Amino acid sequence: MCGIIGVTGVDDALPVLLEGLGRLEYRGYDSAGVALVTNTGLWRARAAEGTHSVRDLLVGGGDPPPLASIGIGHTRWATHGQPDTGNAHPHFDCTGRLALVHNGIIENHAELARDLVRGGHVLTSKTDSEVLSHLIETEMVRGTSLAEGLRRALRHVRGSFAVAAVHAEEPDLIVAARRISPLIVGVEGGTSFLASDIPALLGATRRLFALEDDQLAELRPGTMRVTDLYGAHARPAALTIDWDAAAAGQDGYDDFMTKEIHEQPKAVAATLRGRRAPDGTLVLDESAGLSHDDLRSIERVCIVACGSSYHAGLVAKYAIEQWAGLPTDVDIASEFRYRNPILNERTLTIGVSQSGETVDTLQGLRAARERGGKVLVVSNVVDSSMAREADGVLYTRAGPEVGVAATKTHLTQIVALELLALVLAQARGTRAAGEIASLMDQLLALPDTLEAVLERTKDVAEVAQELTDARDFFYLGRHVGHPVALEGALKAKEISYVRAEGYAAGELKHGPIALIEPGTVVVGVATRNCLWEKMCSNIEEVRSRGATIVLVGNDGDERTADLADHMLWVPAVDPMLAPVVDALPLQFLAYWLAQARGHDVDRPRNLAKTVTVE
Ligand code: M6R
Repeated sequence: MCGIIGVTGVDDALPVLLEGLGRLEYRGYDSAGVALVTNTGLWRARAAEGTHSVRDLLVGGGDPPPLASIGIGHTRWATHGQPDTGNAHPHFDCTGRLALVHNGIIENHAELARDLVRGGHVLTSKTDSEVLSHLIETEMVRGTSLAEGLRRALRHVRGSFAVAAVHAEEPDLIVAARRISPLIVGVEGGTSFLASDIPALLGATRRLFALEDDQLAELRPGTMRVTDLYGAHARPAALTIDWDAAAAGQDGYDDFMTKEIHEQPKAVAATLRGRRAPDGTLVLDESAGLSHDDLRSIERVCIVACGSSYHAGLVAKYAIEQWAGLPTDVDIASEFRYRNPILNERTLTIGVSQSGETVDTLQGLRAARERGGKVLVVSNVVDSSMAREADGVLYTRAGPEVGVAATKTHLTQIVALELLALVLAQARGTRAAGEIASLMDQLLALPDTLEAVLERTKDVAEVAQELTDARDFFYLGRHVGHPVALEGALKAKEISYVRAEGYAAGELKHGPIALIEPGTVVVGVATRNCLWEKMCSNIEEVRSRGATIVLVGNDGDERTADLADHMLWVPAVDPMLAPVVDALPLQFLAYWLAQARGHDVDRPRNLAKTVTVE
């Protein structure tokens, strides 16, 4: 988490930094800050309430900020030290001539800090990051350049970093380096840039490169030199940019979440476009790197992901097992790599990650590669770290997602994984061609169905209004409705701040039903699938204990409506595809609950969109 940015070689660096920080805000917004290199030394502004307040700080009161052609900036998701101004980046060294921004975690910061303090350094923050400024200072006192100082400093460090530093003695230079945390660099005319992620630089340049682990870039106006941590020449990876600045904007919507919810039909259609060959067979992009022989030789699938991406993986388990007949495990990435997953060359490991940068998933996939078998990534970001490291990539084509709550990327992940399940079934001959064609037709019809559900947002708003004061929610589902319930509960937790437990409805009686009492809200995914009758029984069980019942049900299904206090209606689709449709009213429900409680849906507390720490 955290976002960093830097620019050198512009007339006025500050607006460029603020604009970029605004676009990186989804990586964290506990605090923000910038440092400029001016004729008289470094100038710094920091604030503890997100980049808007940095902007306010700069334009409101006091001396106007100086004009500078070079600067660095940071937006923070706090790990070490409270989210206050003192812990905000950039951090200085003792001389106040060096400023540094950092994303990641310096795991051995405590021992480094102890040695620095013994050596006479004064550390002013509680962050792990500040040790880096002082380590570079130590090296520079010995007469090295800023770049060599950073190289040497990083050799002492354990953990993850994307780091950028400027120094008053080298007033046109930014040095930057990475390990695990992402960092991109670019040059356009006489200007050079760096940022944590592509959206920050959209509009500035399309010539972007991703630094690899332990690479260091020296950026001067219009030039870039990349080395490894020992000074040997190195080559960063050129990036393919297929997003434009407009796609990353708010486009007249009140917030990004609303915009992204409304983009779902388009995103699903884009993800499915071109996947059917003229002869009717289903095809994956070449980038997926899966030949017919590969698809036929797979004996087992292992899905690794976090959060909403994990929930998409859970849906895929049902589809892959049912259609392709392949045993499929789904693992939470942060657990996967620390157990002993049994994989072999006939295992297909699939990493599901919107950002392609989530460190738990990235490290999980690295562990899988070491154990053998192919690694495929389902990602929304072209040339993300995972995409570059995997054997193949299946891209969701949702366009940039800025809202912290995953919406359009979650639906497109389900669709991409279901497409993969059908391709596996086709290659392995586990389903008849006619059935595969029919399911593909139904997948292709989903955008129209989603358009119809989007029309119903006001109905959901009315239900949310009725539930404004409720604090305890259970989200229940069975079969593919279970991951839908988990995802609905996650959405409610993260943006509405209600206690929302997602459960397999049949599991409730094994303990959690003790928590049901009058006033508890039970949200059930009760669209028709093979377990609908059992689901109805489970709803009866909580209804008889006084819960308020909200059900997602198929249009006109009066038997389901009889069980509910409030209905969220959706059109009926094939049960295996229903998660794509049923998720939508639950996104709306979380959205309107958050609105009713006055929360900022795009900036939920304590969260960041891209989680690059363990
Ligand atoms: O970028 P990823 O898909 O790897 O992110 C994984 C989770 O952090 C993410 O899905 C998170 O749970 C959502 N933002 C929740 O809405």
